[in-house]
Amino acid sequence: MVYLSNPILETGEPYTPGLSREYVAATYGVPVGDVAKLGSAENPLGPSPKAILAIAGALALTEQYPNWTSEKLRTAIAAKYGFDPDQVVCGTGETEVISFILRAFAGVGEKVLMYKPCFPIYHLFAENEGRVPVFVEMGEGFDFRIDDYVAAVKAPDIRIAFLTNPHSPSGRLMSDADIRKVCAAAGDTIVVLDEAYIHFTETQGGFHLLKEFKNLIVLRTFSKAFGLAGLRAGFGIAAPELIRPLWAIKPTWNMGHMQMAGAAAALDDEDHLARTISLIVEMRGYIAQRLSGLTAFRMVPGSRSNFFLIEVLDPRLDSTSAFDKLLEHGVIVKDGSVSFLGLGKRFLRSDVGLKKNMDRLADALAAIERDLA
Ligand SMILES: Cc1ncc(COP(=O)(O)O)c(C=O)c1O
Repeated sequence: MVYLSNPILETGEPYTPGLSREYVAATYGVPVGDVAKLGSAENPLGPSPKAILAIAGALALTEQYPNWTSEKLRTAIAAKYGFDPDQVVCGTGETEVISFILRAFAGVGEKVLMYKPCFPIYHLFAENEGRVPVFVEMGEGFDFRIDDYVAAVKAPDIRIAFLTNPHSPSGRLMSDADIRKVCAAAGDTIVVLDEAYIHFTETQGGFHLLKEFKNLIVLRTFSKAFGLAGLRAGFGIAAPELIRPLWAIKPTWNMGHMQMAGAAAALDDEDHLARTISLIVEMRGYIAQRLSGLTAFRMVPGSRSNFFLIEVLDPRLDSTSAFDKLLEHGVIVKDGSVSFLGLGKRFLRSDVGLKKNMDRLADALAAIERDLA
């Protein structure tokens, strides 16, 4: 037997990613180009063209170690959003920054607060290193039950509290007033505001709250609106006192030249960002209208993100059978019962994407409904 620092590393759950086009093509015999990939919330317009050029330009630097604090990228992010570079930490996606935060601010056996359901990385990373996730149930219709969350965050043994805005998997937007209530009630507890999908809400997001709250860290990613999920780049902004411990815990050269150059260029690609947001907003309305005639399925209203929940209404189906039937039609979504702890057996999560893929989804759901008759 190998020695493990924590036995949970043997038994703990790994992350379940969205399925790939290649897997679905090989398993269901759908031509790979026809698979509608709506399970990973990627950018349907692809990467920022400015980022691709910058990444190509950075290739020639590959024999050199990168600056270990991602200085150029931190400086670009700080200048863009009006902070000091020493308030910014970069990671290989937000996911890596989340792991730094958990390791820096919550020890083994200590508690981490989050909604149920939520982005699974929060509780998987917490549990797999021996911390204790504490959940606040979302309400009917995925409202935030803010009084319950505020009461929970006041418990003296909560070390970190996660908020996702807009929330995943529901896409619901939390108000600034509610975020303020959580930060104020949290005291010394660190509040992590994960804004991976904030661009799609067409709001300014929570950076301005950093001026009011020294216990707040705001996270953003280059994987979604900027279209760089495969590059792996994300960042956190907070008071320097919260960022400094993360340097000590960070794998030293975590960000390579290409990640830094691509991400910095994407930050300034206003055109790609604007086209992406406008497509998502338009298609969110379009798919709502296309799904409105179904009786076996219902689009859960209220998403401000680039994904939404579909409730499986027909008792002859559950989320897993509906997920499997969509795969037969070459449509990949997320099975809520597999991807989100506590979501139960009646929800799928689908991305908002190109019109042709919204039509594929709507047509496949209509065909599944017809087959039940
Ligand atoms: C809510 C939320 N936060 C963070 C991330 C991670 O993004 P990244 O690609 O930056 O690691 C995701 C990815 O799907 C997400 O859904």
